[in-house]
Amino acid sequence: MCLRCNAMTGLSSRSKPHIPRVIRGLPALRFALARWQARRHKIALVPTMGALHAGHLALVRLAQRRADRVIVSIFVNPTQFAPNEDLTTYPRTFAADIAALTALRADLVWAPSAETMYPSGFATRVVPEGPGTAGLEDAFRPHFFTGVATVVAKLLIQCQPDFAVFGEKDYQQLKVVTRLARDLGLKTRIVGAPTVREKDGLALSSRNAYLSPGEREAAPALHRALADGAKKIAAETPIAAALEEARASVERAGFTLDYLEARHADTLQPAGSYKEGPLRLLVAARIGKTRLIDNVAI
Ligand code: PAJ
Repeated sequence: MCLRCNAMTGLSSRSKPHIPRVIRGLPALRFALARWQARRHKIALVPTMGALHAGHLALVRLAQRRADRVIVSIFVNPTQFAPNEDLTTYPRTFAADIAALTALRADLVWAPSAETMYPSGFATRVVPEGPGTAGLEDAFRPHFFTGVATVVAKLLIQCQPDFAVFGEKDYQQLKVVTRLARDLGLKTRIVGAPTVREKDGLALSSRNAYLSPGEREAAPALHRALADGAKKIAAETPIAAALEEARASVERAGFTLDYLEARHADTLQPAGSYKEGPLRLLVAARIGKTRLIDNVAI
């Protein structure tokens, strides 16, 4: 018996491949959800833009531990890219994504068209304040969180999940969507998942594919600077001095900094001292044509 699809297979549920159902339109999605809801299944959603790597797959595994059914959404959301950003070149690897989700036995892939998400005449946006206007990503990508909040609100309304899993890798985004779910009175509980890293500390990201071999070699400096900075601040080195050192080491590695800041971990407001914690150290920096972000707990 396949536990996820209730079919008699003659094979153990682990040995039979389970290709997730790919749904592209709202009527079919609603039909699938209604069946699960009638059986009182707990449902989790993992929103993604595809180009899945081990970081995304860790979110799917976490979702599977919390819920009976897991939906992975794959939608490269145009409204969170500025005209000068990488929407057209953003990696699209749908067949490989489905293969990875088959290996994980995910239940459903929600892959709407742009027309389904943004029908002609679309005129409604969700504009986040609070953590969405903390002066971090929002200061450098002013369009970004309105695009994210609008699409995430739509995904949560469409999929009605009990849980939705987001990575700490995009820490400000995690705070924005946590606030959003509360403020809009959604039933979904937002769950944060730890950042998955390469052995040398570089956080996995679809955008790492843009790095040249030399840039890839330099890239772990970002995480090293954060880890050292966090250690110093936790040992009560004054925050300004620790930040100055961390910024200098990122720049020495060949990055141009957008920001490297210590903030309160919940509100993302500036922090004067370690005692005001819990704190989070967040960075965004560019190397060549690639912009990377990362953060660590202090
Ligand atoms: P995307 O960049 O595809 O990321 C999807 C999810 O994977 C996000 O929650 C992100 O934080 C998480 N993630 C990415 N890299 C990770 C890593 N190394 N370790 C752990 N989790 C990681 O974030 C987006 O898409 C979009 O903004 C989205 C929320 C889907 C809205 O369009």
